[in-house]
Amino acid sequence: NIPRITILGSLNTDLVAYVPHHPLPGETLTATSFMTSPGGKGANQAVACAKLSRPRSLSSPSAHVSMVGAVGSDSNGDMLLHNLQTHGVDSSLVTKLPNQKTGIAMIVVEAETGQNRIIISGEANHSVGEEYVTAGGWLEKTDLLIMQLEVPMGTVVRAVGEAKARGVDVLLNPAPARVLPEGVYRGLKHLVVNETEAAILGGVEERELDTMEGLERVGRMFLEKGVENFIATLGGRGVFYLTREGGEEKRGLVEAERGVRVVDTTGAGDTFVGRYALDAVRARKEGEGGEGGRFDIEGAVRRANKAAAVTVQREGAAASIPWRDEVE
Ligand code: RIB
Ligand code: NA
Repeated sequence: NIPRITILGSLNTDLVAYVPHHPLPGETLTATSFMTSPGGKGANQAVACAKLSRPRSLSSPSAHVSMVGAVGSDSNGDMLLHNLQTHGVDSSLVTKLPNQKTGIAMIVVEAETGQNRIIISGEANHSVGEEYVTAGGWLEKTDLLIMQLEVPMGTVVRAVGEAKARGVDVLLNPAPARVLPEGVYRGLKHLVVNETEAAILGGVEERELDTMEGLERVGRMFLEKGVENFIATLGGRGVFYLTREGGEEKRGLVEAERGVRVVDTTGAGDTFVGRYALDAVRARKEGEGGEGGRFDIEGAVRRANKAAAVTVQREGAAASIPWRDEVE
C-alpha cells in the first residue's frame, strides 16, 4: 500500500551554458562550459520524488512515482525516457509523438551568482492535451497529482477538476507563472509558488511580499479562494507557509539554509516540490489508514528546503537533485 504520486507535466532537454556573466544586448560571449542534460519541470519533479524517497543504494522508490507527458521521436526523447527509468520513475504514460520534437530549454547560468535565465521551446509538451487526463485511467490510481504550467493550461484545469471529482489531492507549482482561472483554486490542496509566481497569480506587486504581513495577506487571499496549503519560496529569505488544514490557520517562516555556495539554482524549486510532496502524500495515506496523522507542514517545508539547498550547489537540473541519503 505504498503512496502513488503522478506528475502530469513537461519533459525538456536542457542546453546549459555556464558563463562568467549574462550577455548584454548585442554581446557575444564564450561559455566556460556547456552541457546537454535532462530537465523539464515535470520530469525534474518526478525524479525528485523518486530520488528523495530512498537512499541511492535501494533500487525501488518507497513511493510509486509515475509521469504523464510527451516527448518527440528524436534521440532527446529517448534520453529523457531513459533518465526517468534509471531513477525508478514509471514512464509508461509518456507518449512518444511521431513527427515532433522533444521540448527544449536553453539555460544560461552565471558563474558568480549561480542564477539562471531560461528560454523554453515547448514542442511535444504543447501536445499534452486534455485527453492525457483521462486516457489509461491513471487518475483513479493516484493519491497525489503534481502539475506545473509547462503543458497547456486547458489540460491543467481539466486535471484539477477530474482530480477533485475523484478525491485526489493536487499540488500545483504554477511555473512559468500565468494567471489561473478562478475555479482552479478550489481544487488545490497545495499551492507552491516563488515570489514572481505569487505576485502574478495574486495580481499584486512583488514588493508586497517583502513583509510578513504582506505574505500573510497574499497567502490568505489564496486560502479564501480555496487553497488548503500555501507555500511561498523566497530564496535567501526562506520559505513562508500558511495553512488551514484541519480548520485552524497556521503560518510560519522557515529560514533559508546557511553557508550554501550557490553554483546553479536550476532544479531547486523542483527539488523542493518533490521532497514536500513525499511528506504530503504520506500524511494523506496515514489519514486514510485511520492513524489520524496530521500533516506536519512545517517539517515538510524544512525537509524540502534542506534538499533544495543541495541542488543549488550542483550543476544541472535532474542530475543535481540529491538522493535521500545525501540530505539526511
Ligand atoms: O525548473 C527547471 C527546469 O525549467 C529546467 O530543467 C528547464 O527544462 C525548465 O523547464
Ligand atoms: Na542545480
